[in-house]
Amino acid sequence: MTIGIFITICYIISSVLFIIGLKRMSSPVSARRANQLSAVGMLIAIVATLLTSGMMEWQWIALGLAVGTALGILAAVKVTMTAMPQMVGLLNGSGGLASFMVGWAAYRYQPGSSLLTTISTYLAILIGGVTFTGSFIAWAKLEEKFVTGKPILFAGQKIVNSLLLGALVAGGIIFCAHPADNYPLFIVIMILSLILGVMAVIPIGGADMPVVISLLNSYSGMAGAATGFVIINSMLIVAGSLVGASGIILTKIMCKAMNRSLANVLFSGFGNVTKKQQTDVKGEAKPISVKDAYYVLEAARSVVFVPGYGMAVAQAQHAVRELGKILENNGAEVRYAIHPVAGRMPGHMNVLLAEADVPYDQLFEMDAINPVIDTIDVAVVIGANDVINPAARHDKSSPIYGMPIINVDKAKTVFVLKRSMRTGFAGVENELFYYDNTRMLFGDAKESIQALVAEFKSA
Ligand code: TAP
Repeated sequence: MTIGIFITICYIISSVLFIIGLKRMSSPVSARRANQLSAVGMLIAIVATLLTSGMMEWQWIALGLAVGTALGILAAVKVTMTAMPQMVGLLNGSGGLASFMVGWAAYRYQPGSSLLTTISTYLAILIGGVTFTGSFIAWAKLEEKFVTGKPILFAGQKIVNSLLLGALVAGGIIFCAHPADNYPLFIVIMILSLILGVMAVIPIGGADMPVVISLLNSYSGMAGAATGFVIINSMLIVAGSLVGASGIILTKIMCKAMNRSLANVLFSGFGNVTKKQQTDVKGEAKPISVKDAYYVLEAARSVVFVPGYGMAVAQAQHAVRELGKILENNGAEVRYAIHPVAGRMPGHMNVLLAEADVPYDQLFEMDAINPVIDTIDVAVVIGANDVINPAARHDKSSPIYGMPIINVDKAKTVFVLKRSMRTGFAGVENELFYYDNTRMLFGDAKESIQALVAEFKSA
């Protein structure tokens, strides 16, 4: 067997492992193994690529591997679960930068290749550049470093962006028609691509960043696939296409869960909430003590937990599971209702509840719990806010109008566990807190749940 055939076989095995990995990622039961399978696929692909003839500069590859591995391990250990979207954003940006650099090097050292290579080089630069700076801005907005998390809007913004895009398309056509000796134009395209990434993401609010990050994830895949055509590497084309396709599917799922179009997410400046919208809610919220909440829960025959971002912040999932078990032993039917965009990333709540060993048959998706929610005695909201805001159903002036929610307000009693009356990520007041059947259990979610557990234990 020649080395070429061996590498091809390795690439086919890697591709199969990636596809099986992606398929199995769709269920929490198989997701962990799916991740491991995909990682093995990546290892095989890297080793096979290193065996390619002409791979002379081993010392540079080894240095890159060492630096990348060290940064990867450090990030994996240090980054908290709540900061995962930012981390994914940075990883996407690195993918975009890699494609950008490879496209640059390919043109610098082999200008004037075939038309296919020239178009691929242009696309690698364009999509890679947009992905790199766009992901950096997405990271900065989520971290609230260097830029505000709010949409940055200015007069004529859409015209500026259209001109930028037009210049990139026109520049691309000229470049592809005359690739030889056109390095200055190539540099202009590189710079404009980087600027477009910044301009495309600054008008988008922090609340929509997870969708943007998912879209940029797709872009990083497309840039990778284009780079695969530049350096004629079939593995890169396959892996890039898989990332590109899965990123776009995830983006679509997230938009659907928020009942918004992708165009609305990208161009509406969502999150730029006015003072008037924030002060519309009237009434008085009714706090409840742990002791009183215990009495209600003790008598409840059916309880549904509705987790949100606050549960992730408080790391309350293990305490919630413990309370769930106690309630079951007390004769209540216990369920966990998960909104598709609760938290800050897809599957955020599923991951946390799975970590706390919540049985999968107790997890209910929004569409499964809503039809029976009026039969529930107590809905316990743990650090969720936007995803349970009834204004989304009826208040046409609300920025979250139309977003499907978990209808906790229809349960007989609602407990909302949060630290204050502050708004959620969308910056919108929540009228649920003032409803007659709602009681606010103020405090850190983990501490409140632990206090409830203590009440049950001491009874
Ligand atoms: P949010 O609306 O962001 O509300 C989280 C609440 O948790 C806050 O109101 C906060 O109130 C509370 N909280 C924070 N730390 C807490 C702690 N230690 N203990 C108790 N409570 C705590 O969360 P959500 O309901 O999960 O909604 C998610 C939001 O993100 C939506 O707007 C959604 O559209 C957006 N989004 C999510 C995704 C994905 S994929 N998940 C994608 C795009 C957009 P206090 O400060 O008063 O405690």
